Amino acid sequence: MTLPTGDAAPTAAEQTTDARILRRGLRNIGAMIRIAPKPFAVAALGAMVNTALTLFLSFVIGWVVAEIAVPAYENGEVALGSVVIGVAALLGTSIIRFSSMCARRIGAGVMMFGVQAHWRRRITRRYLALPVSWHQKHPTGTLLSNANADVEAATRPLAPLPFACGTLFMVAIAMVAFFSIDWAVALVALAMFPTLFALNALFATKMAPRAKRAQELRAEVSAVGHESFDGALVVKAMGREAAETERFSASATELRDAMIGVGRLRAAFEPAIAGLPEIGVILALLVGLARFQAGAIDLGQLVTVAFMFSVLALPVRAIGWVLGDLPGSVVGRERVDHVLAATGDMTYGDKELQDTGAAAELAFDHVAYAYPDGHEALTDVSFTVEPGSTVALVGATGSGKSTLAHLAARLIDPARGTVRLDGEDLRDLTHAALARNTALVQQIPFVFDDTVRANLSLDRAGLDDDRLWDALVAAGAEKFTASLDDGLDTEVGERGTTLSGGQRQRLTLARALAGRPRLLVLDDATSAVDPKVESQILSGLKHSSESASVLVVAYRRATIALADRVVFLEDGRITAQGTHTGLLRDHRPYAELVTAYERAEAEREFDSEFKDGELKDGEFHDAEYGDSAFSGGEFNKSEFNDEETAA
Ligand SMILES: Nc1ncnc2c1ncn2[C@@H]1O[C@H](COP(=O)(O)OP(=O)(O)O)[C@@H](O)[C@H]1O
Ligand SMILES: [Mg+2]
Repeated sequence: MTLPTGDAAPTAAEQTTDARILRRGLRNIGAMIRIAPKPFAVAALGAMVNTALTLFLSFVIGWVVAEIAVPAYENGEVALGSVVIGVAALLGTSIIRFSSMCARRIGAGVMMFGVQAHWRRRITRRYLALPVSWHQKHPTGTLLSNANADVEAATRPLAPLPFACGTLFMVAIAMVAFFSIDWAVALVALAMFPTLFALNALFATKMAPRAKRAQELRAEVSAVGHESFDGALVVKAMGREAAETERFSASATELRDAMIGVGRLRAAFEPAIAGLPEIGVILALLVGLARFQAGAIDLGQLVTVAFMFSVLALPVRAIGWVLGDLPGSVVGRERVDHVLAATGDMTYGDKELQDTGAAAELAFDHVAYAYPDGHEALTDVSFTVEPGSTVALVGATGSGKSTLAHLAARLIDPARGTVRLDGEDLRDLTHAALARNTALVQQIPFVFDDTVRANLSLDRAGLDDDRLWDALVAAGAEKFTASLDDGLDTEVGERGTTLSGGQRQRLTLARALAGRPRLLVLDDATSAVDPKVESQILSGLKHSSESASVLVVAYRRATIALADRVVFLEDGRITAQGTHTGLLRDHRPYAELVTAYERAEAEREFDSEFKDGELKDGEFHDAEYGDSAFSGGEFNKSEFNDEETAA
């Protein structure tokens, strides 16, 4: 239960240093603007109009003071015309400012959420395209975190971005205004802005490694949490609640500490960044006052300068917000890119198979497969499943049966050799042709939190209820489906929790059969189904008119005996092929394994029947199991797997 830490962004540490952060952050912002140029334009325009009017307001207020307030104060009389103009100017400016603020905020929101949606879609598409082997190496919680927390971090600077753009525009205008009013006040401003930027840049640099760590820890907490919830049944059954809480709390505590570190740094810098403009206002007032006394500027200009400095104080912080979020956004973007750049996709060919409706031929031709850790799971495997025949794949645990089943359904590609369906290399077939012609049913059935009907049809075209019922009959699942409260419309709960293990297996088998595949691969897919029903299902499949070729991983003697041929795997190699009776007679390891399976199965049955108080002498010794009695009706052995039997 260890997690690959930092797996989603292995190189970020070396790269997110110093000035690079700023450059990469700005490049990231540029890329995001290109994703949503229109909302950005609306928001930036709104921000600029807003800031321009804010500055204009400084002049209006300066004018009002000089033209209305001062004369009123000095002469005690007010010119009505000036008041009307003053009020109209203030009101008009305020209304336009209000609307432009709306444009800025709405535009920024549309942009940010639009970019988030864009990346989430791209990430999801990558997840879907990446091969099984990639998914096995990446915990689900981390994948969720990539699509969630990382995307959010990457786009966080977008919220204050238009405001910051407006501010830059405002600073530019203000500088021109300051210089046109007086060089001395302009110098105060000239000193303030570079200091602010420098302070922000320093903050960004210090923040980067902390933001990266926090982002990694978010993924880890998500992965730990996801695993615990996913394994809720095991956690409860094994009394692991305290241990799991401990495991989660260790990650969560680390995340908390990292976030507090982030907060500390923010707390150290924010007051300085926020206070600097205020200091600027005081300095500007002092300098302005001196210049007023020296007669270089008049009272209106002094008021304008003071007001301009004070209205700049808040917007300038918006630049700080953007810069402050840059480190986190760079890290988030790197983690997103790591997913987007992941390779190893399955590429599909463009060949279709002729839809004859007849069973297909599967052929393995000198196939070898090695897992990424270098372990060769299959070596030089050659065999054929003739059209319409049933081949049983028998072998001890770890002999490579599931690997072979995955190759047959092209979840993975062979390292050497070829797997062919009707003579065509699986790699040359289109994705649709593969999906239509082959079906793999695995031992652990996956059932979606939806209705039985949705679980069976999976939105595939042409699967009407008649066809679903046919499939249910063939999978031996029609009786229990019919007895469910709402039949096909019954909701089965998350992962099918309202069904027994055997019911779930039969449902997933029916799902595969509903598509009428021409090749059916069953990887221990009926292990939790009672042996009698299993035999019925398999002989039904064999004799049905919708015949498919069947490759079945089996361990029960009755099941194996139904197959036309047996392929026996030992340590990734086929050591014997032939009929069940032939192998039993001629191949000792085979006979030993099958007998061991049989004994384990019989013991299990003995236990099960004995507990139910319906032990009937001799029945569990019956090699064929065909007529053994099952008291509980549903013989649920979902926890049963070949690991236990082969030992
Ligand atoms: N994802 C994997 N990564 C590395 N090795 C694996 C992986 N899956 C299976 N193996 C190894 O490959 C061998 C064959 O496994 P598998 O095909 O699952 O056997 P079986 O289904 O017959 O029990 C085993 O030694 C197993 O440990
Ligand atoms: Mg297996």
